[in-house]
Amino acid sequence: MDVRHAKPKVGSIVTIDRHDFLSGRYASEIYRLLVERSALVFPEMFLSDDEQLQFASSIGEVSLIGGSMALQNVTLDSSLSKVADYTRGAFYWHIDGANDLIPAKATMLSVRTLPEPGTGDTLIANTYAAYDDLPEQQKQALDGILVRHALEASQRYVNPTPSVSELTRWQSYPSQTHPLVWHHVHGRSSLLLGNTCFYVEGMELAEGNMLLARMMEWATQDQYVYRHTWREGDFVIFDNTGAMHRAADYSLNSKRLMRRTTLCGEEPVTATA
Ligand code: OGA
Ligand code: MN
Repeated sequence: MDVRHAKPKVGSIVTIDRHDFLSGRYASEIYRLLVERSALVFPEMFLSDDEQLQFASSIGEVSLIGGSMALQNVTLDSSLSKVADYTRGAFYWHIDGANDLIPAKATMLSVRTLPEPGTGDTLIANTYAAYDDLPEQQKQALDGILVRHALEASQRYVNPTPSVSELTRWQSYPSQTHPLVWHHVHGRSSLLLGNTCFYVEGMELAEGNMLLARMMEWATQDQYVYRHTWREGDFVIFDNTGAMHRAADYSLNSKRLMRRTTLCGEEPVTATA
């Protein structure tokens, strides 16, 4: 397995024999690397659905779609996805499953239809590195801060004036209160931010919004962000417990299509290690 770091603090490009990749023999090494680097790119893998599921199962438990082991389409094309309208929320930094009690462990994307050139990159920010680099005093100030996460918050970015029926649908999904700093069992800590952040618990709204904006600006500085420009066959995975991600703008009429697998979360968000 050959590993080339894309940037000092985030992202690695991995070249691996296809058979080794699928065998699961490197699974623990790949997962260790993922947690360290937040994002891994396996260029030009051209994985079939079955191959992607086989690899995903070697890293963790695949989230079921409607009760079965299947991949999900990520696209704005509503003929290919029933939740295409929610996909626009992915233009803003987020963590998959932040509204769940136990956020997803990792997300894996294979590109099927490329976006138009110059559009539709995927950006991934290493929130372990962002936390590590905070001044000690700020780390202490963040301990104990709790944030409410909800689908409503993320959907307001793309639809700021929901109807009562839209709001009712959004609010039917789970919402969650998580600590802003996630102290993981393995000993590292990450910032839990993103478009699902609704408000900071127990803080005046304006003050809480300022805190969230400051942390978001900090965590998405260029040094923490890997930007992937998709090429045919690429397979990209990101850690959902120590990274945020977003899609760079692409046309609302684009045929851009990803096939996605998500791994079930394993660790509830904890404010103490
Ligand atoms: C996702 C997602 C980003 C992208 O699939 O969860 O946010 O670039 N995708 O499509
Ligand atoms: Mn996402």
